[in-house]
Amino acid sequence: MNQNTISILAIDGPSGVGKGTVARVMAQKLGWHLLDSGAIYRAFALAVEARGVDIADKSALQKIAQTLDLEFKTEQGSELVSVFLEGGDVSKILRTEQTGEMASKVASVGVVRTALLKRQQDFAQAPGLVADGRDMGTVVFADAPFKVFLTASAQERAKRRLKQLQAQGTMGIMSQILAEVVARDERDCSRKNSPLKPADDALIIDTTELSIDKVIAQVSELIKA
Ligand code: DC
Repeated sequence: MNQNTISILAIDGPSGVGKGTVARVMAQKLGWHLLDSGAIYRAFALAVEARGVDIADKSALQKIAQTLDLEFKTEQGSELVSVFLEGGDVSKILRTEQTGEMASKVASVGVVRTALLKRQQDFAQAPGLVADGRDMGTVVFADAPFKVFLTASAQERAKRRLKQLQAQGTMGIMSQILAEVVARDERDCSRKNSPLKPADDALIIDTTELSIDKVIAQVSELIKA
């Protein structure tokens, strides 16, 4: 893979900011591939849980990360439809708050991040890639020509998450979701390995007051320019 010859749009930001939606729409618009890097960390967390491994056991975590049997099923080359871990469909459990929380914990381990790096970089295929996560613009695709960092207040992100849960028919309590969002921010931003932060050359978009269409318009402008 040569990141310099493949167009890459890196989209980073905290949980619940809408990165996934923006990435999906942009990948469709551009006809590029899509990498949901959070799904890799989530699937890894499920594999760790299934083996009953202590998250302090770094060498066991490293081994699991290096041999992770993970398959993404996509539609039209970009839309992520299902995720299979060791042959089993984990698409639903992958998206729960609990899995996100576990993912955030195991993702702070340096040897895990190193072991999962190439797997993410291999998604860079012609004609281009839209990659969303926490360190797409700073580490995984540091040479990407297009970088966006999305932000929104924790209150607004918790509100969006609650709406999303309700749309899926799941109950949620605003105060609890807000506390989870804040705790996850704290962990993802303060970790030593690849902390969540904007790349120096990223376009920062505060989406608190913006509709998804407005965000897409700003990102599209960046690509055109
Ligand atoms: O984007 P998400 O909510 O699916 O990610 C779940 C967790 O995985 C997130 O809290 C931190 C971790 N993660 C990461 O450390 N680096 C990434 N590039 C993507 C996710």
